[in-house]
Amino acid sequence: MSQTLTLIRPDDWHLHLRDGAMLCAVLPETTRHFARAIIMPNLVPPVVTGADAQAYRSRIIAAMPEGADFTPLMTLYLTEDTDAQDVAAAHASGLITAVKLYPAGATTNSASGVADFDRVRGVLERMAEIGLPLCLHGEVTDPDIDIFDREAAFIDRVLDPLRRATPGLKTVLEHITTKDGVDYARSQDDLAATITTHHLIINRNHILVGGIKPHYYCLPVAKRESHRLALRAAATSGDSRFFLGTDSAPHTDMLKENACGCAGCFTASNTMAILAHVFEEENALERLEGFTSRHGPAFYGLPTNKATLTLSKGAAYTSPDKIPTDDGPVTVFDPGFELQWKVT
Ligand code: DOR
Ligand code: ZN
Repeated sequence: MSQTLTLIRPDDWHLHLRDGAMLCAVLPETTRHFARAIIMPNLVPPVVTGADAQAYRSRIIAAMPEGADFTPLMTLYLTEDTDAQDVAAAHASGLITAVKLYPAGATTNSASGVADFDRVRGVLERMAEIGLPLCLHGEVTDPDIDIFDREAAFIDRVLDPLRRATPGLKTVLEHITTKDGVDYARSQDDLAATITTHHLIINRNHILVGGIKPHYYCLPVAKRESHRLALRAAATSGDSRFFLGTDSAPHTDMLKENACGCAGCFTASNTMAILAHVFEEENALERLEGFTSRHGPAFYGLPTNKATLTLSKGAAYTSPDKIPTDDGPVTVFDPGFELQWKVT
């Protein structure tokens, strides 16, 4: 007998749409299921000013598929030269929903990010005053820190001091990959953590055992199994501090299957089907709606969506493994199991 599940239409609180041909190819994969998404600003060059965000937003709207009902929630890329007044004006006009902080050198197109955190103090204080959330890529880049310890070190060395210095700053610790991230989020007020779909599925063995799997490589890199289990427990717990940010990050196969492959898993197409599978495995299907559709808007002070999305469970199937783009194919994240839930 087929089973159905109807949810408030979900939002994605961390998404890479890129630009140009890639934007046109991947946008429908998100608008098909999601009502809103926080749009990452790590383009080349990055989306730094209100004017940049306005122009990028227009390009996204122009690329929307016919009839799509989707709102891009824009962000600014914080640099050491960011002008607090420009940020406040972009917020006041309703153009932006958050500001994104990349530690310089932490990930894809983060070269213009922040190396000296004192230099962004004024902007962060202004954001706390006006209630504008900060989204954080939570990894240190210090060469003495092992890549698998970068998130835990970030919490101790950067995040905790930053939050003590800026009381009231609403903060999203994005794409957490560790029990340390889970525990920190549970200990804080005014802080939420997003969790990706892929970090609920893979641990570091999936990337490295039996040959290197470039399509499982992302940043922060997946950690050991005990961390994955902590993420699954957090995501399915019903705790409103945890919500979905897919970090769906398209790169062409040529750039992934490369001697120096890019970081990113592309999950926009099959995220909802995978999450239904995960939440069912954890006996928490009734909590999926909180994770995908309620906790995020509550944190951001936005209404939940009015529309719904229905999934049904039937015969096992595999979703398309690639999305064609004019730049070359993009491989869709392979969860390693057949899906039974399908968005109807
Ligand atoms: O895996 C990732 N890919 N992590 C990031 O932080 C950036 C993203 C990208 O833009 O490709
Ligand atoms: Zn990202």
